[in-house]
Amino acid sequence: MIEFSEEGKRRYQTILSHYPDKRAALLPVLTLAQREFGWISQEVAEYIGKLMSYPPSDVLSVATFYTMLHKKPAGKHHIDICKNVSCWLMGVYPCIDEIKRQLGVEKREVTADGKFSWDVTECLGSCGTAPAMQVGDRYYENLTPARVAEIIEKLRND
Ligand code: FES
Repeated sequence: MIEFSEEGKRRYQTILSHYPDKRAALLPVLTLAQREFGWISQEVAEYIGKLMSYPPSDVLSVATFYTMLHKKPAGKHHIDICKNVSCWLMGVYPCIDEIKRQLGVEKREVTADGKFSWDVTECLGSCGTAPAMQVGDRYYENLTPARVAEIIEKLRND
């Protein structure tokens, strides 16, 4: 049976303190769960459902709606790279090719060492500094293939 770490339990309580009803905190709690467990599995959905008085199917249906919540295992560093209009116009596709070349896996696959996965995403809200990608909480902007290679190299050593 899984459960949050001690730090996760403290964070869970802090999240709940921001909402009048614990059920309203589902999305930030799922984000916390992803940080703790890596992805939202059936087991995670059951755990969160029990904590928050939701049927696991409701937890999974919320997780399914949000692409930033992983429904299958992801790498330690998951790259979301925007393929929307501004990024497309500013040359994201060569950057995507560089990600594939560097990692050797297709989107939504995990590298053999478990360190990386990647996916394309819709607008990250960073159109003025396109192309953009997000890794965890961090944004990387004004991408070029060379910059993508440099970022991945730094993350490899993290
Ligand atoms: S279109 Fe890529 S960040 Fe908006």
